[in-house]
Amino acid sequence: MCGIVGYVGERQGLSLALEALRRMEYRGYDSSGIAVNNGGISVVKKAGKLANLEAVLGDMPGTTAIGHTRWATHGRPTDENAHPHVSFDGRAAIVHNGIIENFAPLRQELVDAGITLNSDTDSEVAAHLLARAYNEGETAGDFRASALAVLGRLEGAFTLLFTHADHPDQIIAARRSTPLIVGVGEGEMFLGSDVAAFIEYTKNAVELDQDNVVVITRDGYEVLNFDGTAAEGRPFTIDWDLAAAEKGGFDSFMMKEIHEQPAAVRDTLGGHFHDGRVFLDESDISETDLKSINQVFVVACGSAYHSGLLAKYAIEHWVRIPVQIEVASEFRYRDPVLDERTLVLAISQSGETADTLEAVRHAKTQGAKVLAVCNTNGSQIPRESDAVLYTHAGPEIGVASTKAFLAQVAANYIVGLALAQAKGTKYPDEIAEIWASLEEIPAKIEELLDVREQMAGIADELGAVQTMLFLGRGVGFPVALEGALKLKELAYIHAEGFPAGELKHGPIALIEDDLPVVVVVPSPRGVKLLHSKIVSNIQEIRARGAQTIVIAEEGDEAVREFANYLIEIPATSSIMQPLLATVPLQFLAADIARECGNEDIDKPRNLAKSVTVE
Ligand code: F6R
Repeated sequence: MCGIVGYVGERQGLSLALEALRRMEYRGYDSSGIAVNNGGISVVKKAGKLANLEAVLGDMPGTTAIGHTRWATHGRPTDENAHPHVSFDGRAAIVHNGIIENFAPLRQELVDAGITLNSDTDSEVAAHLLARAYNEGETAGDFRASALAVLGRLEGAFTLLFTHADHPDQIIAARRSTPLIVGVGEGEMFLGSDVAAFIEYTKNAVELDQDNVVVITRDGYEVLNFDGTAAEGRPFTIDWDLAAAEKGGFDSFMMKEIHEQPAAVRDTLGGHFHDGRVFLDESDISETDLKSINQVFVVACGSAYHSGLLAKYAIEHWVRIPVQIEVASEFRYRDPVLDERTLVLAISQSGETADTLEAVRHAKTQGAKVLAVCNTNGSQIPRESDAVLYTHAGPEIGVASTKAFLAQVAANYIVGLALAQAKGTKYPDEIAEIWASLEEIPAKIEELLDVREQMAGIADELGAVQTMLFLGRGVGFPVALEGALKLKELAYIHAEGFPAGELKHGPIALIEDDLPVVVVVPSPRGVKLLHSKIVSNIQEIRARGAQTIVIAEEGDEAVREFANYLIEIPATSSIMQPLLATVPLQFLAADIARECGNEDIDKPRNLAKSVTVE
């Protein structure tokens, strides 16, 4: 959601924080700001993208700084609502990610004490509370005790960074249910919502637990619990490099990430199959536990949910146990029936999505085993799950998911095969055969990347369309949903995905002359009936004037005459086809977005990369 940075060291805090915010802008970008503490607090903040902040930056010398890039929850994206927020006496400043749920009574208390609040945010109260605690009462003059006193009063989810003019040599930070990582340098210390904030300067980082406080100075860090007792962080070494977080010659992160998909899938598969057996990562779910699983629930949001739909097809087919899939935000509100023989598969790129995290927590209270599929090491969802299978897509900066989605599909298939192996529903040679077709996918995606030019040509001819439909059957249906979601996110136009069989039950009324309709065609070598049915669907929509954009396996001659545009994808087994069919739709969405006037496909309006509020 929001991106946060903190720095204490020898470099100029302003430029360092600005650079860090630039790398974290994907987390939120409706306003940004920086406070420098040089024995007095100077603040600059501005609504809009980071460029707006850069345009108004003055000279703010000082080597301690906190910064923030915001995705609005309480209060519109305005200069006043941008962070940092400064206390009434101008001596303390804070930045906040999350939601302070009890901000209303705290705000009232401050108003009653004669303090004027300058923003509509839930966050500002923390700055004033800190100053009050520091100025009077038993915590007077004690920065650490004051910060702890404030934290003790807050409810909700938050990462908070506190700085105080009397203590320019330190920053105090806390986390509860939102991310915060410590970067450990030589003579300098960093704080960040993720490692992108400081990866340029150090690869040594420390993970914190929930309800941990960390005090950083130039020389080190100290981890505490909210009650002030000592706690410990977990040091780790970052294995991403800075180049991975930069565009690598492409005009957008998203384009770069689409091109990284062969590696994302290859790296995700890496090490999970050897000596004829499938291996999950280290986990607290034993082979015996896996064997006893008799139902699976998949919980996820957005693109991750679409990858979960594919998990359902694969697991039901390979393991022969029922799989239910639920949008995470709905899951716990309908009292799902779970027990210790239920496996909950929680899929999340960021590992921070609040809806998915709450679904995980709910599943655990019901005794289910939770397996996370996640792209972010050390993030909250894997930490609260019984087991994790990491996707190795690397940092995904483009807000619209591409490589993480394909890596999730690959990881879901690994889970399916591991279950089939544990429950003995597939013979080892069958598993090896499926694995072999999975392993061929990265090279096939590589080959398919050449489709970029064709998709750009199609987008060029279609121009700034108003609406588009996406149809698929079987595993082509989640692909249709994902294609429609990408287009909505990037081009801001209406797009819908349907199971092609539903067409006649309503959506066909939408078909009119020249309406572009994407159809994902299953392999003619798979279930024959499915293929011939979708060929009939294409004819039906063509007959009503639609322009058909047909994604089909190379050599599928049956569809050619009904396709205004035919995009051929390499042959593979039916279940693997989504890993290929999605790729042209990612290009199409990016190209149509440009036709529709959205030049910045990395940061679509109103969206944030990780949604840490429910
Ligand atoms: C779509 C997209 C979102 C995310 C969703 C879940 O392009 O990126 O729909 O897939 O917000 O995010 P994670 O996977 O981080 O839980």
